[in-house]
Amino acid sequence: MKVELEDVTFRVSSFSLGPLDFSVEEGTITAIIGKNGSGKSTTLKLIHGDLKPNTGSVSIDSSKVSSLSSAELAEKTSFVWQEIYNPMSFSVRDVMNVSGYKRGNDEDSMGEALESVGLSSLIDMDFSVLSGGERRLVTVAAAIYQDSEIMIMDEPTNFLDIDNQIVVYKLLKRLRDAGKTLILTMHDLDAVHNLADSVLILRGGRKVAWGSTSSTLNIENLNKAFNVSFHSYDTVNGSAFAGSYKG
Ligand SMILES: Nc1ncnc2c1ncn2[C@@H]1O[C@H](COP(=O)(O)OP(=O)(O)OP(=O)(O)O)[C@@H](O)[C@H]1O
Ligand SMILES: [Mg+2]
Repeated sequence: MKVELEDVTFRVSSFSLGPLDFSVEEGTITAIIGKNGSGKSTTLKLIHGDLKPNTGSVSIDSSKVSSLSSAELAEKTSFVWQEIYNPMSFSVRDVMNVSGYKRGNDEDSMGEALESVGLSSLIDMDFSVLSGGERRLVTVAAAIYQDSEIMIMDEPTNFLDIDNQIVVYKLLKRLRDAGKTLILTMHDLDAVHNLADSVLILRGGRKVAWGSTSSTLNIENLNKAFNVSFHSYDTVNGSAFAGSYKG
């Protein structure tokens, strides 16, 4: 499923976003990067229909998101929120069932989704007592269980240790290889470099650059998006970026 933003603008209090114009191809990973407060989460919420643009439109497979019911949207898109909702007295199973309610409690798939993040043993635990990283992994597993074609993830690796970040990176690649369309935000530029097919760079709600990762994720654009000065260096996995500052 293709996601298209046409001339999207959005304003709230003193923050304005856009205009944003881009099209995400099916079976790709798109990363949105930029400083805190640059508009990344707002862009994801506009794509997911949680916020309505002031002008322009967001479409999924040529249907305007604003014309889709919440049930239709939930079938097409899943959303991993940046802030983790912490419902009282919900078990991990309940959290999974809320995301995958269409599946009617498919225990095997639920167990597989949890096992993909190494947490199937926690299925009957109280979600609110899990560690931050465990709750983050359960929310990623819940999106996998939901099994929509478009997967939107707002910082899916925050709270995670390095091992679990890699678990999630591998999962994201596997989902993309299985044909899912992923749109996500991330602060780890090396991960973006390794994972993303396309990158949108924002600063202060404005687009700094959009395009293929190879043509967009470069020192010139990073220097425009952040206040530090970037340089690239060689690693065994190719080049990586580092920002330096004078303190
Ligand atoms: N309802 C609101 N009322 C007022 N300002 C808002 C509202 N929602 C978002 N903003 C402002 O919009 C800006 C963009 O917010 P957004 O959450 O999209 O940033 P972000 O790029 O995701 O940042 P972060 O990296 O910190 O998650 C911020 O300055 C935020 O304070
Ligand atoms: Mg955010």
